[in-house]
Formats: sequence, C-alpha cells, structure tokens
Amino acid sequence: MLDVENLHAGYRRVRVLHDVTLSVATGETIGVLGPNGAGKTTLLRAIAGICSVYGGRIVFAGQPLDGKPDYERAALGIAHVPEGRRVWPSLTVKENLLMGAWRLASAERKRELQQLLDYVIDHFPRLHERLEARAAVLSGGEQQMLAIGRALMSKPRLLLVDEPSIGLAPLMVEAVMEALRRLRQNQNLSIILVEQRTQEALDLCDRIYILSRGHMLDAGRKREMLTREAIEAAYFEGR
Ligand SMILES: Nc1ncnc2c1ncn2[C@@H]1O[C@H](COP(=O)(O)OP(=O)(O)O)[C@@H](O)[C@H]1O
Ligand SMILES: [Mg+2]
Repeated sequence: MLDVENLHAGYRRVRVLHDVTLSVATGETIGVLGPNGAGKTTLLRAIAGICSVYGGRIVFAGQPLDGKPDYERAALGIAHVPEGRRVWPSLTVKENLLMGAWRLASAERKRELQQLLDYVIDHFPRLHERLEARAAVLSGGEQQMLAIGRALMSKPRLLLVDEPSIGLAPLMVEAVMEALRRLRQNQNLSIILVEQRTQEALDLCDRIYILSRGHMLDAGRKREMLTREAIEAAYFEGR
C-alpha cells in the first residue's frame, strides 16, 4: 500500500529525515514513536506532500508520489490529520466535516455525503449532538475527533494521524484511542499513527517504528518483540 524508501526530507535547507525506510500493508496500523524533534511530523508531512524531499521515493498504491502536490495525494486516498488538529474554529462541526469531502464530485455528493456523515458520527457519537456547534467551542478531545472525522470524509485508504492524544484529558485519550481501534478493523484502511504515548501505540498498532534524530532505529518489528527496555534504550540513544 505504501512504501517509503531511503527518504531524505525536511524544510528547504533544514534536513530532517535521513535515509528513512518504512512500509505499510493494506489494512495495517503502523506506529511511529520517537522523542520530540525526531522528525515524526516531518515524515507524515513528506507522505502528505507538504515538505521538501531531497532523495529516496514514496510509492502509494503502486504510484510514485514524486512531484505530486498534496491535493493529488489526497485525491489518491491519503488523508492527513495534522499535529494540533487544525479544525476551522468559526465553522460548525458539520461544516468542518463537509469540507473534508471536498473532492467528491457534485453528482456523487448528495448521495454520498449523508452516508459519509453517518459513518463518521457512528465512530464519534459525541459529534452528533454538536453538529451545529462552532468548532471553537469543542473540547480538545472533541476537536481531535472532528479532525479525524474530517479526514475520514475523504474516504481515505491511508490515514496519517499526528499525536492525537497530545494535551487531552485521560478519558478523552481513551475515547480517541477507542475510535482508532475501531477504524483499525476496517481492512481497506491503513493507518500511520504518530504517538509519544508508547503504551497506547503498542496496544493499538500491528508494528512499531522508532525515529530518532531523523533516522529510523527500528525496521518495523512485531510489537511482541519490542520490549519496553528496547524502546527506552532507543529514546535514550536519540538524546
Ligand atoms: N517548518 C519547519 N522549518 C524548519 N525546520 C522545521 C520545521 N518544522 C520542524 N522543523 C525541525 O525539524 C525537526 C523535526 O521536527 P518534527 O518533524 O516536528 O519532529 P517531531 O514531530 O518528531 O517532534 C526539528 O528539529 C524541528 O525543529
Ligand atoms: Mg510532531
């Protein structure tokens, strides 16, 4: 589904990722762990097409993504839930969700929009009673649900989720993780989850990669083989 091969990426002259290789199979949920500043967000942005790539390649569903702008990648089925949620505060919950479906052709819209809304609300029942509320008044957890829901409205095949639990109350962390656990059961959807919370990522993901200072430390071992000590050692090495 996705192959990232020997990727070098960053922001103009700031080189962040060095020779990063990662693969995600259809229906697989992958975790990317690593300390602050390791390059996790940059990795997701490189896949989404919103940072500079200096070398290596990214192949999605058999198609090389080289040179393709972000909106073309979105049209191919890559949805990015950015760090910090980035919902539109002055729009309502429903308007935010509908914006996520921008790429549906107009003929399809009427038929599909309601189905998509129902699908998202089924995953995030909390959003149901808040559909007409402005996104600005939602709690952090609800905004995170909205950001994920908005991404789902584009019917993605690959969902990139950047630290969804950051800054959330424990109950909200659990609610967001539960929603991701349900999404994971969709065999047509692959997920890359970036997390600082090691335990949550280990519980949720099929395989884990560890990024440290822009280098991939672990080539995607099965989570059973990743001991807490190994993860801690990787974090320590990265400092
Ligand atoms: N827009 C940017 N321009 C220049 N450097 C950036 C930018 N965003 C992030 N960086 C740098 O890239 C490195 C990795 O950042 P990031 O990918 O956000 O790491 P993480 O998500 O793992 O915390 C950091 O050193 C950071 O300062
Ligand atoms: Mg980040």
